Amino acid sequence: MMLFTPLTVRDVALPNRIGVSPMCMYSSIDGLPNEFHVAHLGRFALGGAGLVIAEATAVDPVGRISPFDAGIWDDAQVPGWQRVTALVDAVGSVPGIQLGHAGRRAAVREPWRAGAPLDDADAAAGAAPWPLVAPSAIPAGPGHQVPSAMTAAEISRSVQDWHEAAKRAMRAGFRFVELHGAHGYLLHSFLSPVSNHRTDAYGGSAENRLRYPLEVVRAVRDAIGEGIPLSFRISSVDGAVGGLELDDMVEVSRALAAAGVDIIDTSSGGITTDRSSDTRVRRGFAFHADFSRRIRDEVDVLTATVGFVTDARQADLLLETGDADLVLLGRQMLDDPNWAHHARLALGDDGFESWDVRFGSAVGPRHRTLARLAEAGETPLSRFEGSRVRD
Ligand SMILES: Cc1cc2nc3c(=O)[nH]c(=O)nc-3n(C[C@H](O)[C@H](O)[C@H](O)COP(=O)(O)O)c2cc1C
Repeated sequence: MMLFTPLTVRDVALPNRIGVSPMCMYSSIDGLPNEFHVAHLGRFALGGAGLVIAEATAVDPVGRISPFDAGIWDDAQVPGWQRVTALVDAVGSVPGIQLGHAGRRAAVREPWRAGAPLDDADAAAGAAPWPLVAPSAIPAGPGHQVPSAMTAAEISRSVQDWHEAAKRAMRAGFRFVELHGAHGYLLHSFLSPVSNHRTDAYGGSAENRLRYPLEVVRAVRDAIGEGIPLSFRISSVDGAVGGLELDDMVEVSRALAAAGVDIIDTSSGGITTDRSSDTRVRRGFAFHADFSRRIRDEVDVLTATVGFVTDARQADLLLETGDADLVLLGRQMLDDPNWAHHARLALGDDGFESWDVRFGSAVGPRHRTLARLAEAGETPLSRFEGSRVRD
């Protein structure tokens, strides 16, 4: 069984290969993590996931997706994150953070308000849009603000922002860092010819489009030191006409690995919100596994797969058959924060030793009682059998 085989990356041992995928919760004021983040992320650690990656966390306030994104651009944000990492660590899981900058896709509403660009109505409610930055002055899609093309000085300041944010992440106690290089956000928008039309050293050739992401990787590696695992989430395909394809991303992954990335986390899409150009990957079970497998086969790097992983055996087979080294789950974890514990039971281990003892010591015996009752043919409804139930 691979799912519960530890994975050591650099100096960090993940107790199993189940990770919680980063998920924005749009629950911060001024980028500050709060009790919601402690409870939300803590319950996945208590639920047995070996790795818990906190949501895309802005390295610069301009790079927030919405006004309510979490941040790590300021020292004031460190103590809140320390409370998250202390809990995740204390129950035996590894606390990770996804560092992000939304670039031209910033300044939008929460997804439950359709993720639409902030407008005058939001400004009247105290959430005014802010000017956006990007490699080129091309909006993310219809209705989006036209970003300003970053100057060389702005690019080098931005690299420094990632460096400082990564240092804060270390002070906050994170032991795993992921860079958000997917979904059309700033790093991805430099990589893709759809969004990067620059004619200087940061645009044009594939090598030039890689320059800013590689500078960020090196700056972050410098900040976190040699012992901390560094993951980079890519869009394995742009999912847009004229965009990057998997062949391109194999080469990008090779360059990222050479610059100090340990894990390529293979997602997809997001380079544009223009639906006429949309060639999104079909959502089926484990819909990114083919991308992960190809990169794992061709590049000397570990890979993570994400996307509609729902089942213990499925997750185990993704690892056993060589599709990935690490399985990340997003919405399944929101649905069942104890998924990792339940997966262990489903794969035949009913020892309950992996559970936090405060829960396991109670839930384990209860499971045995439930099994005994089932054997005796008793169900929760036995008491009511034969009784009249009112319509
Ligand atoms: C509420 C929500 C927020 C998300 N936020 C992020 C994010 O901050 N960073 C990121 O890379 N992906 C984000 N995603 C994508 C997930 O990490 C994951 O890749 C995607 O949901 C597919 O996996 P799943 O089928 O297990 O949910 C988000 C997804 C959801 C549902």
